[in-house]
Formats: sequence, C-alpha cells, structure tokens
Amino acid sequence: MTEILNIAHLNIALKKEPTRLLVKDVAFQLSAGKTTCIVGESGSGKSLTALTVMGLLSQQLLATGQVLFNGVDLTTLNNKEMQSIRGAQIGMIFQEPMTSLNPVLTVGYQIGEVLSAHKGLKGETLALKVGQLLTQVGISADRANSYPDELSGGQRQRVMVAMSIACEPALLIADEPTTALDVTVQAQILTLLDELKNRMQMAMLFITHDFGVVSDIADDVIVMFRGEIVEAGSKEQVLGNPQHPYTKALLDCVPDVAGKKTLKPIDYAWLNQNKVAG
Ligand SMILES: Nc1ncnc2c1ncn2[C@@H]1O[C@H](COP(=O)(O)OP(=O)(O)OP(=O)(O)O)[C@@H](O)[C@H]1O
Ligand SMILES: [Mg+2]
Repeated sequence: MTEILNIAHLNIALKKEPTRLLVKDVAFQLSAGKTTCIVGESGSGKSLTALTVMGLLSQQLLATGQVLFNGVDLTTLNNKEMQSIRGAQIGMIFQEPMTSLNPVLTVGYQIGEVLSAHKGLKGETLALKVGQLLTQVGISADRANSYPDELSGGQRQRVMVAMSIACEPALLIADEPTTALDVTVQAQILTLLDELKNRMQMAMLFITHDFGVVSDIADDVIVMFRGEIVEAGSKEQVLGNPQHPYTKALLDCVPDVAGKKTLKPIDYAWLNQNKVAG
C-alpha cells in the first residue's frame, strides 16, 4: 500500500500558552485509495489536525512534530511552497460551500481558477476541462455560467468537490462536508466522493460527527477526545469491538436503525474520574 501521509508527534498549542496542548502527540498514516474517518466530540482537535496538513493553521497557533506528505515534511515548507501543494496535490472540502465559494463569480470561473493557477490551463482547453469536471460531479456542463446562488446546496457542494479534485490530488481532506445537507443529498455526495476516491486512488481524510457516514465510507477510524487519539483501527474493529471507554460511550449515544436501543448520554464525570484523556 502506498503511504501518502505520515503524521507523528503532532502537538498544537497557542503560541502564547505553549504548555496547554490543543492537539497532543497525534500520529497516523494514510494510504492511497483508503478513507480514514476522524470522529470525536466538538473541540477535540479534528479540524486543527486537518488544517495543519493543509498549512492553514491560524497564526496564533503553533504546530510541532512531523507531517510527511509523499515523503516531504510539510512543517518545514514556507508559504509559497505550501501554496503550490495546497489545492493541487492536497484537495480540500469544507462544511458550508457558500463560505468557500465567491458569490460574484460563476462556478465555472472558480473551478477554472484552480486549474489555471496550478496547471496553467487557459482558453478552450480550460473551458473543456471545467465542463468535464462538472459532468464528473453530476452537474450539466452548461451550468458553468451559473453563480453560486443559482445552484442548490447539494449542487454547490458538488462544485466544491469538482474544485477539490480538479488537479487530481493524492490526498483529499473533507471536514464535515455533508453536515449542512439533507440526508438524501448527503448520501449522493458520499457516494460521489467514494467513487472519485476509488477511481483516482486518492487517500481521503474525512472528518465527521456521524457514525452512519463512518460505517458507509471508512476503511479506518480515528477517535479523538480532548486533543488526543484515544482509539484507532479498522472500521470493523472500532465500530464492532470498541476498546476505549470514550469510544464505547460515543457509540452508546448513536441510535440504531430500528430505534430500539436505549441511548446513554456520555458520562463525562466518569471519564474525568478515570482520567481517560486530557
Ligand atoms: N485560533 C484558535 N485560537 C485558540 N483556540 C483555538 C483556535 N482554533 C481552535 N482552537 C481550540 O482548539 C480546540 C480544537 O478545535 P478544533 O476546531 O480542532 O475542534 P473540532 O474537533 O474540529 O470541533 P468541531 O467538531 O466543533 O468542529 C478547541 O478547544 C478550540 O476552541
Ligand atoms: Mg471542526
């Protein structure tokens, strides 16, 4: 299996408060053609971990450790070097497409921008490629001239998918990309991402709160709690035979399809008393 990303000893803290770690000693690897889901409660450090890989961490924060992408340590790159990788070799999709798309530019123009910046495409070749990408994500090529507000939420997220895969990245990072969508559209986007990942043999890092999503698309699962990875393994291991008390607690508050399971809220007092993390 080709290793695409290898993170080791990743710590993230506020520069002005370096001893209070927001992300603690995080380590994991991603391989080509595989999807790893990160789950965990709000504030557990999922987005900070993803932002570090994209080189988009806030200036107020400092990340230390190793983030090897195709053998290159991203933490050693300057802004310009990182810009040439971001969007080209590492694609990204975020939760709310309206905040990532520019409302005054057509979606075709915005997809085209990625290709002209990283691949130098222009004119007819560029227009053709934009049309192909739209078709690939299930939108008719003639919608290239539409503005974001003329598209539905699901279509806008498809445009974001088209932008993120335009340069055929080796790694795709998706931070809760379907949370704002209704369940049927969510299922369509998940299927689309899964197909593209298989076809292009990308490594996919997928952040979600939703165990339904995990069971649909994950190969591997990482569980984060208070800045640490408390459990990691194959989907079958983590969902079928969870070992850590927080993972068990998290799974206990997910409803089953029949709605017959007794749901238990997470007992934070117990987790604190037993010092499971943090
Ligand atoms: N720029 C920042 N300055 C200070 N603290 C920050 C900053 N960004 C994030 N944090 C803190 O770091 C912690 C981890 O944040 P992060 O965004 O990674 O959480 P998350 O797991 O993605 O949560 P969610 O599920 O809500 O998106 C949180 O406690 C958050 O308040
Ligand atoms: Mg987040």
